[in-house]
Amino acid sequence: MLSESPPKRSLNIGNINANVKEAKYAVRGELAIKSEQYRAQLAKGEGKDLPFDTVIAANIGNPQQLDQKPITFFRQVTSLLENPLLLEHEDVLKNGLGYKEDVIARAKTLLKDVKSVGAYSQSQGAPGIRKSVAKFIEKRDGYPAEPDNIYLCAGASSGVNCLMNIICATPNTGVLVPIPQYPLYTATLALMNAKVVPYYLNEENAWGTNIDGIRDALKKAQSEGIDVRAVVVINPGNPTGASLQPENINSVLELCAEEKLVMLADEVYQTNIFEGEFHSFKKGLRDLQKSEKNKDGKFDNVELASLHSISKGMVGECGHRGGYYEMVGFDKEVVAQIYKFVSIMLCPPVIGQCIVEMMVNPPSEGEPSYPLYREEYDGIMSGLYSRAHALYKAFSEMEGVSCQPPQGSMYLFPTITLPEKAVAAAKEKGKGPDEYYCLRLLDATGICIVPGSGFGQKEGTLHFRTTFLAPGTEWVGRITKFHKEFLDEYR
Ligand SMILES: Cc1ncc(COP(=O)(O)O)c(C=O)c1O
Repeated sequence: MLSESPPKRSLNIGNINANVKEAKYAVRGELAIKSEQYRAQLAKGEGKDLPFDTVIAANIGNPQQLDQKPITFFRQVTSLLENPLLLEHEDVLKNGLGYKEDVIARAKTLLKDVKSVGAYSQSQGAPGIRKSVAKFIEKRDGYPAEPDNIYLCAGASSGVNCLMNIICATPNTGVLVPIPQYPLYTATLALMNAKVVPYYLNEENAWGTNIDGIRDALKKAQSEGIDVRAVVVINPGNPTGASLQPENINSVLELCAEEKLVMLADEVYQTNIFEGEFHSFKKGLRDLQKSEKNKDGKFDNVELASLHSISKGMVGECGHRGGYYEMVGFDKEVVAQIYKFVSIMLCPPVIGQCIVEMMVNPPSEGEPSYPLYREEYDGIMSGLYSRAHALYKAFSEMEGVSCQPPQGSMYLFPTITLPEKAVAAAKEKGKGPDEYYCLRLLDATGICIVPGSGFGQKEGTLHFRTTFLAPGTEWVGRITKFHKEFLDEYR
């Protein structure tokens, strides 16, 4: 019999925003929660019966949680921004703490721009910092960039959230999202009660974008009456690591021009490149606008928003929450609404903004902090490179596993083929086969990875994603050993 007593609270699981319940975010899901429980157990000196003595969080791109050291220049400047009184003791800073002249000069410049990191800045971000970002983009692409087109944000996630809020007008609005994808996109669209229009990346072709596949996905969605407004590309890819060539970029921009789609280019991994170089969507667009292909003005009004972040690369300052997006080609009235939207949030964290400035304008050759900055930057890069390759080599030698060579970002996303009996065992436990594999790996080794289903994968295929951020390579051996034992158990 139903209870007659009145509810004790206003909120219950049946009456809160259904869109929040609908959203899924696997990289911090069940496996991550269980791994944190193991970590807490070990920290308390319990868990003597566990078959491992450390927990490895290979589920999320969180570099400093995995012992990546912050770059000294960034933190020295930040320390002065947080406590400007230290600037009254330059001799102590220089002679006692080894702060270089350029650290002190940068702190003073930034403080002049923001006044205090405890003060709100302009909603769009501090003007001097936006100027530095524009200069960086100009240098990177060889085309002018306008500080007014730059919006600083609390990490790329916050930029995506803002843009999706503007784009998603009705429950029938659709956004083309790559599969597999970083689940920020599907989760944000779920929160907006808008439609994910999936397009599949091409694993056989190093996870490249297949423009015919995107066109087909668009046509199918349009035929179902979905109002598709934008296309997301993650370059370099998460979870795939794929780094796109100019031809790929141009073909997506052509589609945007022909179908009037907003181009959302998530470029947060632009410095995590192991092979070749990074090609930005902004440069691709400006090249097309200058080319013969634009003789009828086809590309003149392409709306492009490109995002970058302090969270990734060699900076790895994800806890400080900083990033920016550059918007070009948008209607003025739309931009005014975007400005209003960001104003409602007041401003992004000001320390995060200052780190964005240092990311885009690091010490340059000849400046006193340069040698150490270079050494630290190169050390992080080569560590990532060697761990990526150690992991790739291990995966290549594992039975039933195939993996694309590391190209960029912080992840590998191998395919796994599991024995029928393992698939059946997973089903019995109410889990997907990849999810079951990852849970068993966690229980056996303490290593937390994410099942491919958390990012989306082609029907009938199984994957997992691991970062290669964890120090050392001992943990790679734990995966190899587990994998062999798992296959033997279910053969
Ligand atoms: C592709 C991609 N975009 C955006 C983000 C979010 O970055 P941020 O920390 O700048 O919000 C991540 C984080 O892992 C990511 O992988």
